[in-house]
Amino acid sequence: MKSIVYSDTGDSSVLSLAERSIAEPGPGEVRVRVTVSGVNPTDWKARAGAGIAFDEVVPNQDGAGIIDAVGEGVSGLGVGDRVWIFLAAHERPTGTAQEYTVLPADRAVPLPEGIGFDVAASLGVPAMTAHRALTVHEFGPVRLAPGSLDGRSVLVQGGAGAVGHAAIQLAVWAGATVIATVSSDAKAELARAAGAHHIVRYPDPAEADRIREIAPDGVDHIVEVSPAQNAALDVEVIANHGSIAYYANNNGEEFTAPIVASFAKNVRWQGVLVYTEGEAAHQAAVKDITEALRDGALPVGEEAGLPLTWFSLEETAAAHDAVESGVTGKVLIRVADEAA
Ligand SMILES: NC(=O)c1ccc[n+]([C@@H]2O[C@H](COP(=O)([O-])OP(=O)(O)OC[C@H]3O[C@@H](n4cnc5c(N)ncnc54)[C@H](OP(=O)(O)O)[C@@H]3O)[C@@H](O)[C@H]2O)c1
Repeated sequence: MKSIVYSDTGDSSVLSLAERSIAEPGPGEVRVRVTVSGVNPTDWKARAGAGIAFDEVVPNQDGAGIIDAVGEGVSGLGVGDRVWIFLAAHERPTGTAQEYTVLPADRAVPLPEGIGFDVAASLGVPAMTAHRALTVHEFGPVRLAPGSLDGRSVLVQGGAGAVGHAAIQLAVWAGATVIATVSSDAKAELARAAGAHHIVRYPDPAEADRIREIAPDGVDHIVEVSPAQNAALDVEVIANHGSIAYYANNNGEEFTAPIVASFAKNVRWQGVLVYTEGEAAHQAAVKDITEALRDGALPVGEEAGLPLTWFSLEETAAAHDAVESGVTGKVLIRVADEAA
């Protein structure tokens, strides 16, 4: 089978196309014939990072495909099931940039009827991160469902990003009033198409006033991509007992926040990392995302606020470069013909 591999970290030129044998799933594992590989910033960051723990790594955490072999002791999944994949390359070298991947059965999730592989490969890292960010409020729901965020407001910082897009869709599905921040008219259109009720442009000295006009009592949940730039603004607009879930270090490695204003509002500053958040958070996200899929709440494509940019498996290096350069929307790799 065709695999994209790297054995040294570095720029995207370390990726090469190789012929590898198809592995058998061990106990508790499944083998998936990959149709689409989804690319996230984490994939190029791992590839460019300090080093790898294996002789050779196949990149990309997210993907979609069809189960074609099941290991001993696996229940609830069978050959022929269409699945979405998350954390395929977490603590193992077998990502989705290859024709077949073997992974723990609980990282392959059955797709509801009628959901395309393009949607499926866009879920993983973005949707699971967004789910966690929306469920860490001191008095908020730990699970999402229609109505679970009724009466609550959510501020999504960076509403045209992949995580931001998933956060808007999940929050709207759960009944929240959603405010999204964006840096351009084009991104405003995308955030609106994703379902955001209010759009606020940044940078803008009047940003806090705009948000307070929309949510006079403050916003309950903030999904934050750039705490280094937005911490003070977040504290200004957060409601009493609100949560500020920060998941990225975009535009700065450190942040400072006003202390008195933070504790006076009982603010919960909550870090989120999809790799380490734990099994309970993963399983809650998997179940709720599956229900949202069933409800048709997580579409992709420009008309749904998430333009898709496609590459072939052989072009995986270019796909990584596209994500690294900040292309708007989702970067997907077509691994098999039925990709979408
Ligand atoms: N902790 C985790 O588990 C986890 C999970 C997923 C992703 N991440 C990290 O999260 C980041 C985003 O990932 P992604 O896939 O969503 O990337 P993306 O699709 O490139 O989105 C990033 C978004 O952030 C926006 N942004 C940047 N600075 C902003 C600011 N000051 N205020 C508001 N929005 C701002 C960008 O908009 P403009 O370009 O218009 O400014 C862009 O829309 C990456 O660093 C990634 O590594 C972490």
